[in-house]
Amino acid sequence: MLLGRIDMKVIVAITGASGVIYGLELIKKLKEHELFIIVTKNAKKVMKHELEDYDKEIFKLKDFGKVLDPDDMEAPIASGSFKADAMVICPCSMKTLSAIATGFADNLVSRCADVMIKEKRKLILVPRETPLSPIHIENMLKLSKIGVSVLPPCPAFYHKPKAIGDMINFVVGKILDSLGINNNLYKRWC
Ligand SMILES: Cc1cc2nc3c(=O)[nH]c(=O)nc-3n(C[C@H](O)[C@H](O)[C@H](O)COP(=O)(O)O)c2cc1C
Repeated sequence: MLLGRIDMKVIVAITGASGVIYGLELIKKLKEHELFIIVTKNAKKVMKHELEDYDKEIFKLKDFGKVLDPDDMEAPIASGSFKADAMVICPCSMKTLSAIATGFADNLVSRCADVMIKEKRKLILVPRETPLSPIHIENMLKLSKIGVSVLPPCPAFYHKPKAIGDMINFVVGKILDSLGINNNLYKRWC
């Protein structure tokens, strides 16, 4: 599968870590692609803390792609025969990171990630926690070693961000870069 095509099938999961806005903005930037969206129960709890208008954001998701229930293990995307080009988990909680690192595929997010790994397809994790424990770091290292992209939402300052939107765009731009999608969401170093 060739990343960067204009008609990719992309799975985007939002899990219960801080920074749900990164996932929502990513979904908006991927609207030209065929999107499969999963929002976990705990992500919804975090959204209620972090978003000004939770109901509107949740309602709008269906305009960008197919929204799937995280408990729907019979969804086609749960199977390796479904040819997803890429999956992004943004943000990725330490609990979901751990499930993926151990192959504990007990919901649609961890099952799809497991499939991406076994089928050797593109999987990007945007893990968010601080500080990180040795368990978190070992899980990231284990996944990175087998080809999973571990892309923490670390803002940079060399593009002189003026507002939160600039910092969000930096992280979303980095994710799009990793998917092979051209973008001008942040000012590049060179
Ligand atoms: C407001 C709030 C913020 C949270 N932030 C984080 C976080 O940044 N990173 C993390 O790993 N867990 C965080 N958690 C805890 C996770 O939501 C929890 O571990 C949950 O089991 C994750 O489930 P999920 O991965 O299935 O969504 C947060 C919880 C709440 C309520």
